[in-house]
This record gives sequence, C-alpha cells and structure tokens, in this order.
Amino acid sequence: MGARPPLDPTELARLLRQRRELAAPALFLGATTRDEFMARVREIGAAGPREDQEGATAPPRAVKSTPGPRPGPSAGERMAARTPNEPEAGDRAEMDYDTLRDHAMTCTRCGLAETRNSVVFSDGNPAARLVVVGEAPGANEDRTGLPFVGAAGKLLDLMLASVDLSREDSVYICNVLKCRPPGNRNPQADEIQACSPFLKRQLALVRPEALLAVGTFAAQLLTGRDRPLGRLRGEVHAYEGIPLVVTYHPAALLRNSGWVRPTWDDLQLLRQVMDG
Ligand code: URA
Repeated sequence: MGARPPLDPTELARLLRQRRELAAPALFLGATTRDEFMARVREIGAAGPREDQEGATAPPRAVKSTPGPRPGPSAGERMAARTPNEPEAGDRAEMDYDTLRDHAMTCTRCGLAETRNSVVFSDGNPAARLVVVGEAPGANEDRTGLPFVGAAGKLLDLMLASVDLSREDSVYICNVLKCRPPGNRNPQADEIQACSPFLKRQLALVRPEALLAVGTFAAQLLTGRDRPLGRLRGEVHAYEGIPLVVTYHPAALLRNSGWVRPTWDDLQLLRQVMDG
C-alpha cells in the first residue's frame, strides 16, 4: 500500500470537529493518526529553517537558578534603573487587558528592549479555553510580532490540531518572554523575573480552562518546580487553580524524534482534561 499524504493541520482540525458534531466518542486518536503526526513532524523538521528553533541548543536547566557573580549591574537592572516611572509588578496586577498590552508594547524593564524589533505579546483568542505558553520569540516572531510563526509554530499548530484545537478559535498563545533573546539564547533569570508579571496578569485575565506549557522554561515557571521537563510531563499540575499540562517544546521535537510519542501522550492528556 502506498504512503498516504500527510494530513494538513487545518483539515485534521476540521475532520475532528466534524466527529465531535456527529457525537463520535471522545477523542482518542488511533495509531494511524499518531503515525501521521510523527510523519508530519519529520516532514516539518526536514523542511523548516533552523533559525527559529529556540530551545534547540538549550540544555535543560532550572529557571530559578541564581546567575553567577557579575562584574556590574545586568542589562535588565540598567534598563530598570533608567525607567523609574515604569509600573511595578503590583500595579500591573490591576491592569485590564488593553492597558497591560500597551505597557508590554513599550516595556523597557530588561536589556532585551535594546535588541528587539517587536514585542510579541500574544496570538489567538483572549476568551480561549486553552492558553499555550512557550519560551520566547525567535527571529520570525521578532519580525512579525506574533508568537510561533516559524517551523516550531507550524509544529505547534499540528500538535493543537491533533487534539481538535486551532489557534484561530480555541487557543491563546503567548511566551514567558515577550522579546527575543539575541541569537535565540536561553532566557536569563533577570529577564524572566522582569517579564513574568505580564504573563501572570495575562493568565489571570484570560483565565482559561486549561494551560499547556511547552518547553522547560514555561514548564518550570508555571509549575514552580526546578525539575527537568522529562520529570514534569505526564501528569496534570495546577497553576493558580487552572489545570496545567506540560510537554516538550515543538522546536525540541524537531531535533529529537524520541520525544514525539511522549508529546502525543501529553496532548491526549490535555484533551482529557479539557473534555472534563
Ligand atoms: N518558540 C517559542 O517558545 N515561542 C515562540 O513564539 C516561537 C518559538
């Protein structure tokens, strides 16, 4: 039998929606679809540019680790010192969505403000059932101002479509950092600290039914645990009372095919959580 062409994520989402409308049994996709998923990951990996594969070279590490001794103030400390009128985290905790977004768009609380082209606040529906939290914008995102638009983004769309979710209707996407770390290096502890009040308030305002953290940085930040991703995934955590599933970053899947199957399992777990 000849190989079937891989399913397009939009088509897959449409088929799955149809199944639901026809009251087909709760979504547990069969082996064929999982194989298609794995084949599609390989295909995206083979075709995609490497420039936006954040996390691809990053060794897993704890986000709360204290940076080593430094000769002087960090870029973030210098920027914060220069902007005394910037609201503190406490003020930000009261902001409505549009005000929060406006503040993020002009934020200078860390050194990334000096090198970014765009602040990448979010994509998708702020009334979404699911929020996906990634690591930080890459080159494509910095150029377009939207999260997950490169090869990793294609794969994220596929991951979502495989459990009948699409970023247009049912998902809101954002990152731990709103600005691109130069050269796609790992986020630094001071950058995460400066930026996370935005994420915290975003999540409080969107208040989704479920959260999906992709990659070590988002997973460690939202679970509050310093464990490697492989030891955080596979269970349902809670972030401020919201069920939280963590899984591998799509960019990591593009370089390690051994993580595709566990990611599939995590997505099924997410779907179960969302199906109540
Ligand atoms: N990787 C991320 O973590 N976030 C993006 O927005 C793009 C790639």
